[in-house]
Amino acid sequence: MKLWGGRFAKEADRAMERFNASIAFDKRLYRQDIEGSIAHTSMLAKCGIISEQDGRVIIEGLKNILNDIESGQLKISEDIEDIHTFIEQQLTDRIGDAGRRLHTARSRNDQVALDMRMYMKEAIRGIQRSLLSLMQIITDKAQDHIDAIMPGYTHMQRAQPVTLGHHLMAYFQMLKRDYERLDDCYKRTDVMPLGSGALATSTYPIDREYVAQQLGFGAVSENSMDAVSDRDFAIEFCCCAAMIGMHLSRFCEELVLWSSVEFNFIEMDDAFSTGSSIMPQKKNPDVAELIRGKTGRLYGDLMTLLTVMKGLPLAYNKDMQEDKEAVFDAVDTLAISIPIFSAMLDTASFHEDVMLKAAQGGFTNATDAADYLVKKGMPFRQAHEVIGRLVVYCLDNGKDLSDLSLEEYRGFSDLFDEDVMQAISLDTCVQNRKVYGGPARQSLSVAIEHAKAFIRQH
Ligand code: ARG
Repeated sequence: MKLWGGRFAKEADRAMERFNASIAFDKRLYRQDIEGSIAHTSMLAKCGIISEQDGRVIIEGLKNILNDIESGQLKISEDIEDIHTFIEQQLTDRIGDAGRRLHTARSRNDQVALDMRMYMKEAIRGIQRSLLSLMQIITDKAQDHIDAIMPGYTHMQRAQPVTLGHHLMAYFQMLKRDYERLDDCYKRTDVMPLGSGALATSTYPIDREYVAQQLGFGAVSENSMDAVSDRDFAIEFCCCAAMIGMHLSRFCEELVLWSSVEFNFIEMDDAFSTGSSIMPQKKNPDVAELIRGKTGRLYGDLMTLLTVMKGLPLAYNKDMQEDKEAVFDAVDTLAISIPIFSAMLDTASFHEDVMLKAAQGGFTNATDAADYLVKKGMPFRQAHEVIGRLVVYCLDNGKDLSDLSLEEYRGFSDLFDEDVMQAISLDTCVQNRKVYGGPARQSLSVAIEHAKAFIRQH
């Protein structure tokens, strides 16, 4: 069955038909399609465009189709062009002529835009929920490791001591922005396009507000040509998804590094690790690597949509059918990646002792040694120079700043006193960084409180 046979004298080419069809992937929109059609039908009846009786029969029929699909009784046949055609055909098969009135004052162009927006509104909320539970896990871990000193890095070189809690909470901030970006994307997705028709609305006295209300939309689209050809919301979603992927990928990269023998900062739980078919000793962080790898798909989905849309004249063009697989892939990728990442992180064990040891090497307290001299009156640039020479001395003698005697210190500046040891202890280095946004327990506790409040409020 076709929705457009009338104008054609000849059968469609079989290969063309298969090429043109989208049912293999848009069948996942069956529920949105039916719910949209129910709202459309009740509007048509309310506005007197179809009879009350036809309206009731159509809605009854649509509800039965939904039930039958959901119970597995009705299989969605892939021989048909798309999900819209399938549902309409089912309806007509079941209720006859009334079914043929369903599509009054509607086009598949506004219908598919509606279905996609409904689908994505749900998908966005689902992804936000899983982000939130990951954010909770990060916050709990940060609380557990609020005092665990580790080296902070720049250029992958040991830089200054931080805490594991502080390091973890950096990812909370990224995910919080991702969450808020999705909220923003939701706002622009929450616009009801039905009634735009093929491109120029229709001549029937329809009530678009009524449809929007029934379907829980916050707004009605303002320009019919835009509404049927706008896929910004899908692009924006894929952009949010790509950003989430990028953030998870950075986190994964660190977890992969940290689980190497060279770092040994963490150990992944056996349940989230894999082995090697040849090397019996191996325990590989495949989950983290795979999530890092899947970021490539998410970027691809975004590029697909941007590229599909870039040359399209107004209004609807069939190119836009290509939006679905990209969006679905992004949704599926996040739907699987975020929970598995959460479980992996939740079960990983952190080696606080190894992290502390790493922070004790590599002169992570050199800045604080320079600051010590500054507090005694030396200009910072000069103090930087003195400590630089002190570091070279340590390197030449296989020592660390904390191994030096006061005499050795005094050899570089007579401003050094007994209290230098206290000043450069890692604990002092961290706890003195109590500026808002800093790693000190005092500051991090504030950040953790804010994080908990954010989670509570969402
Ligand atoms: N399968 C189509 C899509 O996904 C539905 C809209 C078709 N509209 C049309 N005029 N052929 O975009």
